[in-house]
Formats: sequence, structure tokens, C-alpha cells
Amino acid sequence: MNDLINEINKRRTFAIISHPDAGKTTLTEKLLLYGGAINLAGSVKGKRTSKHAVSDWMEIEKQRGISVTSSVLQFKYNGYCINILDTPGHQDFSEDTYRTLMAADSAVMVIDGSKGVENQTIKLFKVCVMRNIPIITFINKMDRDSKNPFDLLEDIENVLGIHTCPMNWPIGSGKEFKGVYERKSKSVLAFTANNGQKEVEKKVIDVNSPELKEIVGEYKYQDLIDEIELLDGAGDDFDLDAVQKGELTPVFFGSALTNFGVEPFLEEFLNLTTPPLPRETLEGKVEPTSDDFSAFVFKIQANMNKAHRDRIAFMRICSGKFKKDMEVFHVQGNKKMRLSQPQQIMAQEREVIEEAYAGDIIGVFDPGIFSIGDTICTAGNKVQFKGIPTFAPEHFCRVRQKDTMKRKQFIKGTSQIAQEGAIQIFQELDAGMEEVIVGVVGVLQFDVLKYRLENEYNVDIIMENLPFQFIRWIVNDDVDVKNLNLASDTKRIQDLKGNHLLLFTSEWSITWAMEHNEGLKLQEFGNN
Ligand code: G4P
Repeated sequence: MNDLINEINKRRTFAIISHPDAGKTTLTEKLLLYGGAINLAGSVKGKRTSKHAVSDWMEIEKQRGISVTSSVLQFKYNGYCINILDTPGHQDFSEDTYRTLMAADSAVMVIDGSKGVENQTIKLFKVCVMRNIPIITFINKMDRDSKNPFDLLEDIENVLGIHTCPMNWPIGSGKEFKGVYERKSKSVLAFTANNGQKEVEKKVIDVNSPELKEIVGEYKYQDLIDEIELLDGAGDDFDLDAVQKGELTPVFFGSALTNFGVEPFLEEFLNLTTPPLPRETLEGKVEPTSDDFSAFVFKIQANMNKAHRDRIAFMRICSGKFKKDMEVFHVQGNKKMRLSQPQQIMAQEREVIEEAYAGDIIGVFDPGIFSIGDTICTAGNKVQFKGIPTFAPEHFCRVRQKDTMKRKQFIKGTSQIAQEGAIQIFQELDAGMEEVIVGVVGVLQFDVLKYRLENEYNVDIIMENLPFQFIRWIVNDDVDVKNLNLASDTKRIQDLKGNHLLLFTSEWSITWAMEHNEGLKLQEFGNN
């Protein structure tokens, strides 16, 4: 029992989130470097070169330079066992990010100091706040000219609606970057670029030391003293409780590429975050240190590796210990089973695991039985985790295969991709599966669908954009859908479970439907 508690207390599981190019991959690599998972950071970087980053595996990601899927990496540092969940770097995949955040206990948000929070990622960052987990911010690229640090903090506060508390403070940026002032120790970590090697030349100088004036110059020194005074006087106080509730984000400035400030960030991160916490189930809270194993599926991914042609369900362990070949109970399938070939995955590298603990993520082969949100637990103590909400799609397309002989592959491909939660598929009333209506949260998901159907299922498709922007599930069971009184541009559709839905081009048509059909109940989110 003590072993179990020890193992779980060592665990930290966080998601890393950023807008494309802010430096998420670089920071991840540097963190792995401290765990000795990779010897030289440079050996795994450069998405646009032939060598590509460990955490990116899909062809489309390499072409576009964005992360489409999430991957999981684990490394050990100072006795801790740290799980990093990579997330897609584009807000069109914010639903995927949300699901990944469900599996994480905290999030690290990487921001490019020269850009701040960018418009295209506001939505992505907002899903982070929806989970109320600790968010730790790393403002990257201080070795490049950056925005004013006060403006950067204001940016985060305005966009995310959470308070910020800088843990360190940059002295200059770009060519003039001299290091950071660490507020806790009241000392300065001087910056020396070192080509990103693990051993940073650390120089810690007391803020009152004459040497500091020499290094940063009289002018910058005075600026720093003024800024420190301003921060101490006007900024939000550090409050660990507020951090852990996700109301206050500690902010670190640094430079991942030059490996400046990464290790202090990691050390502080471990102090600011907790081991796995109890999780809610329909039966009440489950303690991570419970003797009973429990986990939930948060991600399903088919054909991750063309050579394997398989489908993998990723589960977050919430309590107890997982042992290879143990018998478990799949709640939604109402069946006892053994998880086949449990593995931890590092991009294409897979390692079959013997055991894993609460906080860890495991991938198992999925013969098509799991859905997102499913619970797996020990048969003796059945629990069920609350489901993972589905986002309402905002873009719609009519999709059909070019070659009608490929009907089977088309149905298989669209259904599997839908089961992964990457798209949602609907049909016209009384229609077959030769043609489907696809709904997505972000338009890039259409590109992924087209690409994957071509490459993984060998089906060329024709896509026709549809003008709808809103989807509503019809809640009433007794409604005669065909006889509803609707605006001419409203469309009746159904999902694969036979639930009826309506597609609208404007808010106005929704109001029309409500006003002209007494008792009609519409719901924004699906419960699938
Ligand atoms: P992402 O995963 O968030 O998309 O970003 P990634 O780490 O791939 O970094 C994007 C670009 O920013 C890379 O350059 C990377 O080298 C650079 N970068 C990351 N951190 C820093 C930093 O602290 N300082 C500076 N100056 N640059 C940084 P690239 O030219 O797009 O790619 P590459 O060909 O150099 O790898």
C-alpha cells in the first residue's frame, strides 16, 4: 500500500498547450532532456526538416507544421515521474485539446513573447480555463525582441479572465536580454546563450550586487529596480490556493531554444502542482490511492502508424495500479476483459508496460469497442466517470465518395474518424450512408478528414460546403420532425443513433423554429 502511495505521489500529469510556433515542441524537448529521455535536444527537432519532432507523427502535421493529434511522453526527474500530454497547436482542434485536458491535472501554456496571446489561439486557451486546473505560463523566446512584459500579462488576463503572477521578471529581451530576476530568491539568473545544451551556465547574482549593475548596465538596472517595485506593489500576490483552482497563473519568462530558465521552471512547476487528485464519478469521488484500479478513455486514434494499421484507445488512470494482463471491467460494454498489449507511446516508439499508476496514461489496442469517455475499472468495485462533453460543430459539409465502388471503405473511414471524435457525422432524413453531412468545430478538421480518407482508407471524396452555422438536438421524443414549421433554410437531419437534429444558418432561424412550434425543445450539446 505504501508503495502505491509513493508511486502516485511522484506523479505529475500535465498538458502542454500553445499557438503554433510558440515553442511547445522545443520546450518539451528541453524538459525531456532533463529527464535524460533524449540525449541531445537538437536530435529531435525541426518539423519542417526531414527530422521531425518526437511528439508529431502525422504526415499532415509535418506538411503544415502544426500538431493535429496529441501524444503522450513520460520522463523522470529528481524522483518524479512526469507525464506530458501534447496538444494540437491550432484552435480548430480545441475539442481535442479539451479532451486531453480532461486527462491532465494541470496545463502549461507556452506563449511567444514577441506575439502574446494570438487571435487564432484565444479559443484554444479558453478551453484550458474551462477545466479549472492549474495553468502555468511560460513566456518563451525572450532571446528575441519581445513585447513589453506588463502588456503580455495584461493580454493573458484580458483574454483568459484569470490573474497572473510573474514568478520571474525579464531583464531586456532580444540582443539586450540579460537574464531574469527571480522574485522568490530576489536574485538574478544571468543569461548566457549555450546552444541549447542541458548544462546551462548558471550565474546567480544578488539583486543588490554591484556585479549586476556591471552586467546589465546602469540604465537597465534602474529599470529593473523600478519594475520590481511596481510588481511588488501592484501585482497580484502569489496564492497557491488560487493557482490550484486555476484562478491565478504563475508566469515564467525564459527561452526554450537556448535552454534558459527551463530547469528553474520545471523545479517550480513541481512545487506548484499536486500529485493526481480525487476524480468525480457517478458514485462519488475516487481516491487516486484507492486499491481499486479505474481509468477513462479520453482519446481514440486509428492508424497512428501506417505499419501497424491499428486503433489505440488512450486511457488516463485515475486510481490504483494497473498490471499487465489484469482483468478489468469495461463499464459501458458491461463486460469483463483484459486490456490487450498495454503500452506507453512515445511518438512511433512503443513500449509494452508491465505496470502503471494513477496519473499515468496508457494506450491499449482497441478492436472497436471503446468510445471516448468510457470507464474501465476493477470488476469488484464498479464506478463510472462522468462523460466528456462534445462541442457543437460550427461548420458543415456534404461529403460523398468519388468512386461509388469504394462505398465500404468510405463508410468505414468516416465512421472510424467520427468515433475518434475528430468529426461528427449526420445524415439527411431517410438517406443512406453513401453521402453524409459532416460537422466540425474548426475547418482544418475537413482537411484532416480528406487527407486521412485518401491516405488511410484509399477513398477520394467530394466535399461541398454547407451554409449552416448552428446545430440543435431535438430533445422531445414525440415530435413529428417532418411536419415541423421551419424557415426555408433550416435542414432536418439525424445522427447515426437516429436522434433528430436541425441545422440553422442563423440565430434568427432558431428563434423562428421555437416561435412556430409550441413545446419544441432544442439542445445545443449532444449527449453522444
Ligand atoms: P511549436 O511546437 O509551438 O509549434 O514550436 P516549435 O518548438 O517547433 O518552435 C517554433 C520555432 O521557434 C522553431 O524555429 C524553434 O527553433 C523556435 N524557437 C523555439 N523556442 C525558441 C526560443 O526560445 N528562442 C528563439 N529564438 N526561437 C525559439 P523554426 O525556425 O520554425 O524551426 P527550426 O527549423 O529552427 O526547428
